[in-house]
Amino acid sequence: MRNINHETVTQAVLASMSNCASERLLSVMKGLVQHLHAFASEVKLTEDEWFNAIQFLTEVGAMTNDNRQEFVLLSDTLGLSMLVTAQNNRKPAACTEATVLGPFYVAGAPEFDNGDDISNGAPGVPCFVSGTVRGLSGGPVAGASLDIWQSDEDGFYDVQKVPDALGDVTHRARGRLHTRADGSFNFRSILAEPYSVPHDGPVGRMLATLGRPPWRPAHLHFWIRAQGYEPLITHVFRNDDPYLDSDPVFGVRSTLITDWIKHGAGVMPDGSVSTTEFYTLDYDFVLNPLGNMA
Ligand code: BEZ
Ligand code: FE
Repeated sequence: MRNINHETVTQAVLASMSNCASERLLSVMKGLVQHLHAFASEVKLTEDEWFNAIQFLTEVGAMTNDNRQEFVLLSDTLGLSMLVTAQNNRKPAACTEATVLGPFYVAGAPEFDNGDDISNGAPGVPCFVSGTVRGLSGGPVAGASLDIWQSDEDGFYDVQKVPDALGDVTHRARGRLHTRADGSFNFRSILAEPYSVPHDGPVGRMLATLGRPPWRPAHLHFWIRAQGYEPLITHVFRNDDPYLDSDPVFGVRSTLITDWIKHGAGVMPDGSVSTTEFYTLDYDFVLNPLGNMA
C-alpha cells in the first residue's frame, strides 16, 4: 500500500475493503469507487474542480434541515431519484406507473373522510378529485389508504411556509383517506399549479448555471398503500401544462397525464354553489399485486 499512483489507486481502495462483513455493502461500495474514479479520470478532474465540488456538497449539507432536503433535491435534479424509482418499480403496463416521491411528503398527515376538503384553507381554485383504486385483475381495492399532498396556488407546500404563516394550522393541502368498499374515493382540494423547485440554494445555482428551468409541471401527489399490493408513489399531471416536457426532476410519465376539467361558476359536486370557476379531476389507479413482476 505504498507509492500508490493514478493507475493503482482504484485497485488499492477496492482491496482495502476486503474485510467488509456485508456482501451487499461491499458490492455497492466497489461499484461506487470504480465509477467515481473512472469519472474523475475520464473528465480529467482538476484540483480546483474537485475543491469546488467539495464546497458545493458542503453547502448542500448546510442547507439541509428538517424542513429542507437539499440532498434529495440534488438527487432529483440529477435524475438519480427517477432512475432508482424506475428500476425498482417495473410492473405490468396496465398498472399505474410510479414516479418520484419528492421532498415534501410528511408522514402522519391528518385523516379525512371521503368528500372532505383537504385544502384546510390553502389558497387556490376549488378542485374536486375522484377515482377508484383497483388491482391488476380489475377488482376494487377496498380500504386502500391514500396519502395526498400538493402545493397551493402560489406554488408552496405547507411545510415551506414559515410556521407563523399558517397560524394554528399544521397541515394544508395534504391528508390521508381510505377507499370505500367499491374502491372509490373522492375529496375536495385546490387546483394544482406549476411551481419551481426550491432554487435559493446550491441546487438552484447549479440549475441556473446549467441553463435549466426550475419549473415542475402541476401535479397532485399520491402514495397508495393496500394489503397484498405493492405501494404506489406517484403523481397525476394536467394535460394543459406548459412544463410537461421540461420537468427538472424527470418525473413525467405520459400515462399519468390527464384532463382536469374546468367548470364555470355554478353548483359544485358537493352541492355548494361557486361564484367562480372550479375544476374536477377523475383518475383511476391500478395496483400491482405483491411479488408480481413485469
Ligand atoms: C415534488 O414534486 O414535490 C418535488 C419533487 C422533486 C423535487 C422538488 C419537488
Ligand atoms: Fe410536488
